[in-house]
Amino acid sequence: MTDTTADPATQARAAHPPADWRSLPAGQQPRWPDPAARDEAVAALTASLPLVVPRECDRLTGRLAAVTRGEAFLVQGGDCAESLDAVDAGALGRSASLLQQLATVLGYATALPTVTVARLAGQYAKPRSAPTEVRDGVELPVYRGDAVNGHAFTAADRTPDPHRMLRVYHASAATLNLVRAYGSGEHADPAYALECVLRFARASPERARHAELAAEIERAGGFTGADGWYIPGELFTSHEGLLLDYESALTRVDPVTGRAYATSGHLLWIGERTRQLDGAHVAYFSRISNPIAVKVGPTVTGDELLRLIDRLSPQGEPGRLTLVTRMGADRVRAALPALVERVTTEGRQVAWVCDPMHGNTVTAPSGHKTRRFDDVLAELTAFLDVLRGLGAHPGGVHLELTGDDVTECVGVGVADDALAARYRSVCDPRLNPDQSLDLAFRVTEYLTARRPARAVRGIE
Ligand code: PEP
Ligand code: CO
Repeated sequence: MTDTTADPATQARAAHPPADWRSLPAGQQPRWPDPAARDEAVAALTASLPLVVPRECDRLTGRLAAVTRGEAFLVQGGDCAESLDAVDAGALGRSASLLQQLATVLGYATALPTVTVARLAGQYAKPRSAPTEVRDGVELPVYRGDAVNGHAFTAADRTPDPHRMLRVYHASAATLNLVRAYGSGEHADPAYALECVLRFARASPERARHAELAAEIERAGGFTGADGWYIPGELFTSHEGLLLDYESALTRVDPVTGRAYATSGHLLWIGERTRQLDGAHVAYFSRISNPIAVKVGPTVTGDELLRLIDRLSPQGEPGRLTLVTRMGADRVRAALPALVERVTTEGRQVAWVCDPMHGNTVTAPSGHKTRRFDDVLAELTAFLDVLRGLGAHPGGVHLELTGDDVTECVGVGVADDALAARYRSVCDPRLNPDQSLDLAFRVTEYLTARRPARAVRGIE
């Protein structure tokens, strides 16, 4: 039984003896050069306040249960990797606002309430394809995200430094503080999000195409499904729970229920590279009570997926587990149907969400890592087709995007040779606001063209 009189850190250690995940293979972890410094950082985090509390995580589980039942739509997005140096309150507000604008459009498109979840206030650790990087004959550890090392190609920056985990904790706390402030301010007003959407449609080179849809969204009042629980401005946080030293040090036991929660963010996901059934990440995630997600690429088999679901969501509680598929535009129609069919036939309760970014990363002629808007749209529409074709609910989108006018993805006004102009990401390329909203408009066209009768508030 859990001792609810012990302090949270003691309880957390009792619930998660380090041996539990430490004894299992953990992919993508840094080799900290100084174990004593690691222990010091972990001890400091263990003694720190939680960033989120169980009640909020449970509320998100409830929202995602509605997604699982086909009664809501998830809009998740943000940076591929947050940066400790990019301290810009305005940019943060613009990204939070962009998510709400997308929710406005996609809520209209699906005629469902939307749940908004940001990739921020914790998205600082990155899985990489190789442990080292070589430039001009010099080999250094690969950049693993600001929680681990610096992006600059110098030995000093690239050496993993565990004290970065503390900087990340404090940066996440400050980010979350602003997100909560924006959530109760004027930017959370649905009228403001609608105004931004209309401004986009008017300024777009595609305005002739977008005008009618923009007018319909305006007539519908901006967003749909305001039936009790949609809270404008409500924004949950999420990140990949990659760095197990960080996550386990911030795990706390809820004294009321005795259940353990990761308190670094509301929703954590397991990445495509670390979802091994016998690995440390799955073991850690199986013991926290947050809503969780797992990224699923084109090589997963139906058997493997079922075992993963049963490990991560043994009770099958709707809202507990979201599957984020990231197949690639050219593979999604071949790979996804059998998986959806198998999981559905076996009666597993999961939300299906599409990440149309990570299976579509290419190298531009300029050498920039990029994604083509058309590929992103193609994967998303194929996902919608597959899920709807099988009578399952396409539960949402998971995007890499920013409220800043970057030039990282190609399409919607960004040509191949323009990528260098404002390429700011330290990791994967993000959609800018115009690209994000254009995507939402095209998805809306796609969905509404296939919807026999419109059942949207304000429209007969
Ligand atoms: C990511 O979301 O940034 C990521 C690395 O994704 P995946 O695990 O799907 O490759
Ligand atoms: Co990414």
